[in-house]
Amino acid sequence: MTPEKLLDSVKENPFLLAPMAGITDCAFRSFMRELGCGVVVTELVSATGLRFSSEKTKKLMEFDEVQHPVGIQIFGEDQESLDYAARAIEQMGADFVDLNFGCPVPKVVKRGAGAALLRDLVALRQVLRVVKGAVSIPVTIKVRTGWDEGQRNADQVAQVAADEGITWMAIHGRTRAQGYSGLADWKYIAQVAASSPIPIIGNGDLTSAEKAQRALKDSGVLGVMIGRGCLKNPWIFRQCRGQDRDRNFSALLERLLFHLEKRYDERLVFLQVKKFAAWYSAGYPDSAHFRRQLFEIKDREFLKAEIFAFFQKMESLPQADTSSEPFLMGGHG
Ligand SMILES: Cc1cc2nc3c(=O)[nH]c(=O)nc-3n(C[C@H](O)[C@H](O)[C@H](O)COP(=O)(O)O)c2cc1C
Repeated sequence: MTPEKLLDSVKENPFLLAPMAGITDCAFRSFMRELGCGVVVTELVSATGLRFSSEKTKKLMEFDEVQHPVGIQIFGEDQESLDYAARAIEQMGADFVDLNFGCPVPKVVKRGAGAALLRDLVALRQVLRVVKGAVSIPVTIKVRTGWDEGQRNADQVAQVAADEGITWMAIHGRTRAQGYSGLADWKYIAQVAASSPIPIIGNGDLTSAEKAQRALKDSGVLGVMIGRGCLKNPWIFRQCRGQDRDRNFSALLERLLFHLEKRYDERLVFLQVKKFAAWYSAGYPDSAHFRRQLFEIKDREFLKAEIFAFFQKMESLPQADTSSEPFLMGGHG
């Protein structure tokens, strides 16, 4: 896919699915595409892990045809591994390579990868050059606003990225030092978008369709990425695009099961369904009680019956806003 075509798909559907390690796997990405999201990206994959052929790493990179345009996200600092990984991604038929410069996790940062590269723009430029030189598909990047409050430099990163022919820069509107605390700084994202020579994708705290639509309209970004918001409201992408919220939980759960069963054995499907049901119940009456009950259930058929029964009762009820409650306050970007 050419950079122009990739950008056209964002213009067509500017609501992208944010990568979330351990969550946005192949099954989930297909499920979310069905539910209206735009471009998808895999969770971060270690370039070194891939070079040394870890089977687990390769599994993280799998995608289905329905997911196009799909990017594979890599992180690393070792140039040979990055070169190898980028070539492998192109060969696999992915549409673009996404580079992670936002991961705040100490294990990654200590190696000089992830968000650590935001503090060393010479090294960051070199990484971009290596990866761009390895492939003919587009290369995109995902960053934090900067290392910490005193070193917010996403604007400078955008300049370097533009020089090196990067197609877009996605910004999670927090510094590395912030982790997941505080709020994403959409004012700063708008500032970067105004001066950036390349398109910006904004990200952070878009927990409702209204917030996502407003952020898209007000901040001058080409698109927005939604992560945690779609874990509590699976219809958020449909709503972002002005489609009615489909309140049919039974149909939704059947599709979730369909995607999970395609990829996982019964034991894992069982665990994953519990996880999603717990998230989807947020903001509905008696959800705390429902969640406690869920995790005690050992029988698969009973679990399914309980989940379907709970959500059937919720279909006509509004979901309360729980966005001020801490939710998944750690991740790789
Ligand atoms: C559990 C979890 C895992 C994450 N894994 C990744 C990842 O692999 N790569 C990445 O670039 N960002 C990762 N992130 C960051 C998200 O893509 C996103 O930037 C962040 O959650 C803020 O957006 P949100 O408020 O819409 O969730 C992760 C976030 C969470 C919560």
